[in-house]
Amino acid sequence: MKQLKSRLSPVVENLPPSGIRRFFDLASEMKDVISLGVGEPDFVTPWHIRDASFDALSRGFTSYTSNRGMSQLLEAIADYLMGYNLHYDPDRELLVTVGGSEAIDLALRAMLSPGDEVLIPEPAYVSYRPCAALAGGVPVAVPTRWEAQFRVSTTDLESQLTARSKVLVMCYPNNPTGAVLSETDLQELATFCVQNDLLVISDEIYAELSYGGKHHSIAEQPGMRDRTVVVSGMSKAFAMTGWRIGYAAGPEDILSAMLKIHQYAILCAPVMGQMAAIEALQHGEREKQRMVEEYDRRRRLMVEGLRSVGLSCHEPQGAFYAFPDIRSTGFTAEAFAEELLRQQRVAVVPGTAFGEAGEGFVRCSYATSADQIEQAIQRMGHFLTEL
Ligand SMILES: Cc1ncc(COP(=O)(O)O)c(C=O)c1O
Repeated sequence: MKQLKSRLSPVVENLPPSGIRRFFDLASEMKDVISLGVGEPDFVTPWHIRDASFDALSRGFTSYTSNRGMSQLLEAIADYLMGYNLHYDPDRELLVTVGGSEAIDLALRAMLSPGDEVLIPEPAYVSYRPCAALAGGVPVAVPTRWEAQFRVSTTDLESQLTARSKVLVMCYPNNPTGAVLSETDLQELATFCVQNDLLVISDEIYAELSYGGKHHSIAEQPGMRDRTVVVSGMSKAFAMTGWRIGYAAGPEDILSAMLKIHQYAILCAPVMGQMAAIEALQHGEREKQRMVEEYDRRRRLMVEGLRSVGLSCHEPQGAFYAFPDIRSTGFTAEAFAEELLRQQRVAVVPGTAFGEAGEGFVRCSYATSADQIEQAIQRMGHFLTEL
């Protein structure tokens, strides 16, 4: 038999390992590490949501659901999205997925033909590039800049646009930069997408974690609803990462294509998670608000702390990450993260894990306790004074 490795998909072979994973692996071998590396809430899922799942189990909800998702959940998602001025038909324009992750993958697979280019404003969440490549597309980085608070502009997009550009994958509030877009940004981007006939995947998984006022989706803009798939889910706002429930909302033609892939590849999202999600969307507002207020408090603590030890840092407007500028230290992002971990046992993620545009920055998650944040800042202070 030929070497097994040589018989595997070259696309998979060429995928780089996740830069985030490497730091987790390094940190997990050390004692007394304070981790600002994680991208998930440190809260346990609120009790009433867990209770709904226990109740569902005791009532015997243990089987497959319809491929698209339970009708009660689809209706709850449609109602919830109306709170963001987004209107979707639960029977034709929504799909329950295994986390927002699956929705991103499905949307790319449904949209792309071999060689189609996918514009990805970077720094960006780590799955967009590999999912685009696995779907036969060509990921094209669109660097965004510190000077523009990492908000993507039409000029940035224009510089990477070609005749093969087909899809724009955007994420605001942004992981890892914490950037959000203004109403004017959204209008300009929408005009650009319509003019250049781009399809859009808008990852709005951090929508609820917008600190400067209500989140707005690009799908609200004129001409955008019919070319946009909005991706979201329960993981971040409801502290439900392990339940694996996300969703996609978009025009029927795209959603039907996504449903086709989903029904063969996944069948349906887990039923216990779907039951829990119904409870969260219908009755989870108070607990969600409590968590958002706590993130907001920690956000200010993190930014003030980073600035107090001499690092420049924009105030993140959304999500739960700060993205300080470490260029003054002379380190690359990777070396900074490695030395900080080795010398002071604080784990942060190098900005380059999110694309080359992340060079010179590190991601610090504030989805951890205030006490841990204060200690981490103290250790970073020691690290920086000893340089
Ligand atoms: C921007 C972004 N999109 C999607 C996801 C995936 O979330 P889920 O747990 O819903 O699959 C994450 C998780 O970190 C994320 O940060």
